[in-house]
Amino acid sequence: MTKSLKVAIAEGLPPQTLFKLRSIKRALMGQPPPERPQVAASAPAAEPEPTPAPAPVAETATELPEPRTRQTEALERLDAHKISAPYLFFDVDDVLILPAKEIARTLTLSVMYINSADVKGDIAEFGTMGGFTARTLANAMVFDPRYQPNQPLRKLRLFDSFEGLPEITAQVDLESQHVKSGTWSKGGCRILSAAELRTMVEAIIPPSRVQIYEGWFADTVKLLPDDTRLALIHFDGDLYSSTMDALVPCFERGFISKGAVICFDDWNCNEADPEAGERKAWADLVSRFNIVASHSGDYSIQGTKFIIHSYRGMKPRS
Ligand SMILES: C[S@@+](CC[C@H](N)C(=O)[O-])C[C@H]1O[C@@H](n2cnc3c(N)ncnc32)[C@H](O)[C@@H]1O
Repeated sequence: MTKSLKVAIAEGLPPQTLFKLRSIKRALMGQPPPERPQVAASAPAAEPEPTPAPAPVAETATELPEPRTRQTEALERLDAHKISAPYLFFDVDDVLILPAKEIARTLTLSVMYINSADVKGDIAEFGTMGGFTARTLANAMVFDPRYQPNQPLRKLRLFDSFEGLPEITAQVDLESQHVKSGTWSKGGCRILSAAELRTMVEAIIPPSRVQIYEGWFADTVKLLPDDTRLALIHFDGDLYSSTMDALVPCFERGFISKGAVICFDDWNCNEADPEAGERKAWADLVSRFNIVASHSGDYSIQGTKFIIHSYRGMKPRS
């Protein structure tokens, strides 16, 4: 390497590196250290030149069509009725299927609870529509023959008009947000016939364990025999009037057992307004029957559940 090349390389090195190399060389040769470079070791690096901000694009200038995204496909499929509900677009493990999973989880755990606590009675569902929750309850009941070997097996009592929601006449409902917005209206929420529901549920538990009550709650709940006991009620009938139609007779006739669970699917509908829907119905039931209950937690998007300890007219455990 020629001297000029060595100098050229040395001059190309950062001052600190050059200082270190020279220090090592001088130490090896027994010479005093070289002079420190003028630039302080801790000197901050020069500020980089600011990058000029991109010129703002006028919103009116973006007249190009939006690119196709997953949203485009989702909306096309929904609009073409290729899927009946948005969550069916997603994979099973997708986060948006959580509402359904959460409901299934709550109902299944509630069935496990009444078995482990040996709460007396059957399971009733008010509002069956597409059979999702009825099927879930039936599935959760398949091991009852092992858990309840010494008593009559619980029945699954399923109530629905199979005509959708009733005519809405109660003032509480007429003033509620879901009714005013048209989310709930007469005939809404109609999917399965009673026969279709029966086929679905009786493929899971035997026909002797399934009772389907077709008609308005106010009429069909009367068909329950006096010695009926209910350990779990899944109430999914949306309206204030429907809640009262179904549950007043159940409390009045002492059907609901000590320790029973009542799940309300639509608790937080109507902006969670305490003067509407299931919230208002529950408040009225509590004061009318002196119900003592524990709030045992919200679930999914709108649901909540209670465990019943006592109420006026509750029959003793038999
Ligand atoms: C939200 S849907 C139930 C959804 C159902 N649990 C499921 O998993 O698909 C409400 C159901 O309650 C029924 N319903 C509401 N009020 C009723 C009443 N007063 N008498 C009978 N059925 C009623 C409707 O027919 C409808 O099927």
